Formats: sequence, C-alpha cells, structure tokens
Amino acid sequence: MFSRKSLSNSVLAAAIAVAGAAAFVSSPAEAGGSCSDKGKKSEFKEVKDACAKSLNATKKMMKQIEKAAKAKGDKTKCSDCHSDQKTYPLKDNAKEDYKKWRKHGGY
Ligand code: HEC
Repeated sequence: MFSRKSLSNSVLAAAIAVAGAAAFVSSPAEAGGSCSDKGKKSEFKEVKDACAKSLNATKKMMKQIEKAAKAKGDKTKCSDCHSDQKTYPLKDNAKEDYKKWRKHGGY
C-alpha cells in the first residue's frame, strides 16, 4: 500500500510542516533582515526557501550545514564560503563545498 516513494514524500511533508510551524512561532525580532536577490533566487532550494522567510532563517539553516560538517570532523565556517558577513558574497569554493555538505545537513 505504501510505496517507498509515497512514504518518503510524507516524511518530507511532515518535515516541511514542522519547519513551517517553527517559523510561525519564532519571534518577530528574529525575523529581521532579508537575503539578497541572489539568495532569494538561489539554485539551492533550501536557501531559496529560507530566504523567502528571513535572513535569520537562512543563517540558521547555514548553521545546520556548519554543524553537519563539524560532526564529520570538518571545520567549515561561514567565513570559508562567504568573504564577509554583511552581504555574504560567495568565495570561489563555496558552491562546491556547499554541495558536499548540504547532504550531511539533510538537504
Ligand atoms: C560550505 C559553504 C558555506 C558555508 C560554510 C556557509 N555558507 Fe552561507 N551560503 C552558501 C551558498 C552556496 C549559498 C547560496 C548562495 C546562492 O545560491 O547564491 C549561501 C547563502 C547564504 C546566505 C544568503 C545570501 C544572500 O545572497 O542573501 C546567507 C545569509 C548565508 N549563506 C549565511 C551563512 C552563515 C551565517 C554561515 C555560517 C553559519 C554560512 N552561510 C556558512 C555556502 C556556505
């Protein structure tokens, strides 16, 4: 009755629902700021989705990536991929490294 596919889809739906609920309860003060247009149109869905919420949501999402890398013994930091912490421009390695770590972050 449950194919593998529909099961994983419902897990995904549940995850999205939880993420949505978490965003809903976060305080307005936390929702300040927003991504650049580049971030809002990111080729990475999770970045695009986070940017659609707020800059802080995006930072949190990025922190998850950092954590995932750390759990694997890597010391990847924001500054390894972004040359400043105001507009978060990407360094040359950023996309490649990000592709490697986003899987571990669950994306
Ligand atoms: C492994 C590389 C990597 C690390 C580490 C990383 N980022 Fe990112 N970040 C990216 C990539 C790739 C994007 C997507 C940019 C795009 O698609 O244009 C991004 C996007 C962003 C954006 C949206 C930028 C915009 O244009 O609006 C923010 C904000 C951001 N990161 C914050 C952080 C913070 C804070 C940290 C540390 C906790 C961090 N990032 C760590 C690779 C990284």
